[in-house]
Amino acid sequence: MEPPSGPPRGGRIPWKDLLLAVSLLTLWNPPTTAQVTVESVPPSATEGKDVLLQIHNLPGYTGRFNWFKGATTEENHRIVSYILDTKKTISGPAQSGRETVYPNGSLLFRNITLKDTGYYTLQFINRNFEVVQETGQVRIFNGRSSTGLPVGSTIGIAIGVLVGLAL
Ligand SMILES: *[C@@H]1O[C@H](CO)[C@@H](O)[C@H](O)[C@H]1NC(C)=O
Repeated sequence: MEPPSGPPRGGRIPWKDLLLAVSLLTLWNPPTTAQVTVESVPPSATEGKDVLLQIHNLPGYTGRFNWFKGATTEENHRIVSYILDTKKTISGPAQSGRETVYPNGSLLFRNITLKDTGYYTLQFINRNFEVVQETGQVRIFNGRSSTGLPVGSTIGIAIGVLVGLAL
């Protein structure tokens, strides 16, 4: 180990730059805090398939969580709520009837349609008892190709467009 205050020699990375790089890495990838994440399984699907919006690390003791269609928490966009104590599901105005909510926070869509494409927001109470939200994206593609191109190329183009829209 070099002493931290050692004079920089030729070709060496100055110590303070190294420290900065390490702290940026730490910010980017918190080693201890288990962050709640929303993941679409599979990441993209064609019409008629089932898609699970998988939630990782949801604190299990927090009273209630709400799912919304879109990057919003407006009541008229609420799909469903789940009360953990009573294991009760409460349908919202944006419910299509094809969604199933699980106690771990995950939301299953059956027989998805192109209209289900878009952002979904989970609102929950975190470990500090604050109401927070996490948004995830579902990508759905028409399985048929109108251009005569293989379906794979259609997906490629659509992903390019979606990247531009990402928040
Ligand atoms: C949540 O529950 C559903 C249904 O039991 C399951 O398919 C999914 O893998 C679970 N997710 C996690 C992160 O455990």
